[in-house]
Amino acid sequence: MRLQKFMAECGVGSRRKCEEMIRLGRVYLNGKKVTEMGTLVDPERDEVILDGKHILKMKEKKIYIMLNKPRGIITTVHDPQNRKTVLDCIGWKGNRIYPVGRLDYDTEGLLILTNDGEFAYKMTHPKHQVEKEYYCVVRGYPTKDAVNRLRQGVDIGEFVTSPAEIIYLGKQGENAVFQVIIREGKNRQVRKMFEFIGHPILFLRRNRIGNLSLGRLRPGQWRFLKDNEVNQLIYGGNNNNDSLQKDETGGFGSHI
Ligand code: URA
Repeated sequence: MRLQKFMAECGVGSRRKCEEMIRLGRVYLNGKKVTEMGTLVDPERDEVILDGKHILKMKEKKIYIMLNKPRGIITTVHDPQNRKTVLDCIGWKGNRIYPVGRLDYDTEGLLILTNDGEFAYKMTHPKHQVEKEYYCVVRGYPTKDAVNRLRQGVDIGEFVTSPAEIIYLGKQGENAVFQVIIREGKNRQVRKMFEFIGHPILFLRRNRIGNLSLGRLRPGQWRFLKDNEVNQLIYGGNNNNDSLQKDETGGFGSHI
């Protein structure tokens, strides 16, 4: 890579500014002053120093991936027991990335992977109130009172849940189907909530995080996020009006 391009990618300034710095003799490559424009550098091996004190390092390219995590995959980058991880799932061989939050082994749905620590913090810290929307099938048919308790927040042992939006979507045989929207993400929270009212979850899928919906991504499929999707997650709201229509119950359901 040309020295001025390398410097620009390190965030020193525009290429033109970097050329000026080279011309002025402010740049040293492996201990030697460089004044020629075409000089090539190997960003992995060469040492470039500006003004005798700033060692230049290229900014790491930010990566954002959305995966529809299938059931039976663990949300980690390495498993000592050699079970299949989300990284195996996408066959990732590139820079270090890691999952943003987690989904249980038996949960499927939207999982974001990134190397951007600030982004991960923003998505997961409860103070940022990012919505997570789940589609769940629960055993049996909870009463209206029981569901209302979950809506208000319940003490499920290790923590008291914050108010949640819970929409009844319909029946599936002997079971009930709900959409649940929460703004926190404690370990196994949705499962614990329904266990608390005596209706354990039989199927759980995360459909949405903030403005980002799973869309047509099938379990095991993944794609890079577009810039506008990343920006919306960082700066945008939580709404997604299509997510209900995408559920296989086909309807908006009524309130239980
Ligand atoms: N809540 C759960 O109980 N499990 C998940 O995987 C995600 C949210």
